[in-house]
Amino acid sequence: MKKVIQNGTIVTASDTFQADILIENGVITTIGHNLETHGAEIVDAKGCYVFPGGIDPHTHLEMPFGGTVTKDDFETGTIAAAFGGTTTVIDFCLTNKGEPLKNAIKTWHDKSKDKSVIDYSFHLMIGEINDEVLAQLPSVIEEEGITSFKVFMAYKNVFQADDETLFRTLIAAKELGGLVMVHAENGDVIDYLTKKALEEGKTEPIYHALTRPPEVEGEATGRAAQLTSLAQSQLYVVHVSCADAVQRIADERNKGADVWGETCPQYLVLDQSYLEKPNFEGAKYVWSPPLREKWNQDVLWNALKNGQLQTLGSDQCSFDFNGQKSLGKGDFTKIPNGGPTIEDRVSILFSEGVKKGRISLNQFVDITSTRIAKLFGLFPKKGTISVGADADIVIFDPNVERVISAETHHMAVDYSAFEGMKVTGEPVSVLSRGEFVIRDKQFVGKVGSGKYIKRAKYGKVLEDKGETLKI
Ligand code: URP
Ligand code: ZN
Ligand code: ZN
Repeated sequence: MKKVIQNGTIVTASDTFQADILIENGVITTIGHNLETHGAEIVDAKGCYVFPGGIDPHTHLEMPFGGTVTKDDFETGTIAAAFGGTTTVIDFCLTNKGEPLKNAIKTWHDKSKDKSVIDYSFHLMIGEINDEVLAQLPSVIEEEGITSFKVFMAYKNVFQADDETLFRTLIAAKELGGLVMVHAENGDVIDYLTKKALEEGKTEPIYHALTRPPEVEGEATGRAAQLTSLAQSQLYVVHVSCADAVQRIADERNKGADVWGETCPQYLVLDQSYLEKPNFEGAKYVWSPPLREKWNQDVLWNALKNGQLQTLGSDQCSFDFNGQKSLGKGDFTKIPNGGPTIEDRVSILFSEGVKKGRISLNQFVDITSTRIAKLFGLFPKKGTISVGADADIVIFDPNVERVISAETHHMAVDYSAFEGMKVTGEPVSVLSRGEFVIRDKQFVGKVGSGKYIKRAKYGKVLEDKGETLKI
């Protein structure tokens, strides 16, 4: 079935213009005026922006973590993502030391297969490096289309890898065309500080933040960035939360290094004081890195505006307050880290960023979609509105006002981290490869219709014709 989207204002990372879009077989085939509509379904986007679908580069769906499993899976999580204007997610596939990488990837395929309502892809965790692991990486890239590798510098005795692993992963990525991602916090120092806090009887949620100060994030970020320069490789720092880390990324970028930074909605609008909420409510706001003192928010916004940070990921990692976060009552180290954010990522950036004049409309598209597509080998099939691109499209009402609440959100968890927050702007309809997933704010998609996407190597375009991409 053909569709023509009419009367909307198309916004890409570079342009804003009035035009109609013809969609055939899930792909954008014409952009222009007075398009032939014979046999096509007309979609009226009057008064709305027409954005490329958001791409969330950082999700943890149905992931075992902190003695439990994240509440949103590939079904509930991607439905919520679609309601929020996201049409592709890249989820983190965890690995176990000594286990073939393909087994871990199969586990992730099994849990996502026939569940996702939008397209999806995987990053792969690297927990150890040895000849066996190195020998498997070419097939991970070539056969699975997984071209980004995640190294944890924190979570000692769980996920944490040492500097040799990070450095060798950077070298391998350089040689093979991968992008290395880091969770940048100094896990050894955190381990010492948390044990000391518990010994001193400090068990409340706020001590999660106080035992992971900005210096441990700044130090690890700087270390990873400098090792990247030494390896002449490429690095993406996930969930940047504070000024110290922004500064380390900027320092290395200023020397010409290929170091990229992502922040998340929670760091832009919430702060450390939330962890002090009474009745253990602070546990809802336990993330790693932790929420920071409020003044860091201005630094993050400015970094998005001036390009020192380039992307917004949700770091969706949802746990119920009752029954999951509550595992940490009396011991903050047992509170599962993470929160529900997948649905609110795009709206918060639009409302707090564009509407409040902190970033431009085109920057908003770049930060939530285009740059992510370029960095992670999805461009130009995803991340833009152009002829030949997948018709992953968000029709967005920029003026509607609403209040974020667990009562109305679509994530499976029993609270919202942004409860009561007023936002302006909301996706009205969302299309994935030309099919409605959300239509007039109702879910009309099909569970299992999302496709696994094999991604291009770092710096290459999807459906590679040998072209090099300027990111
Ligand atoms: O607290 C967080 N960020 N939870 C998700 C796992 C991670 O470190 O990204
Ligand atoms: Zn992390
Ligand atoms: Zn994460």
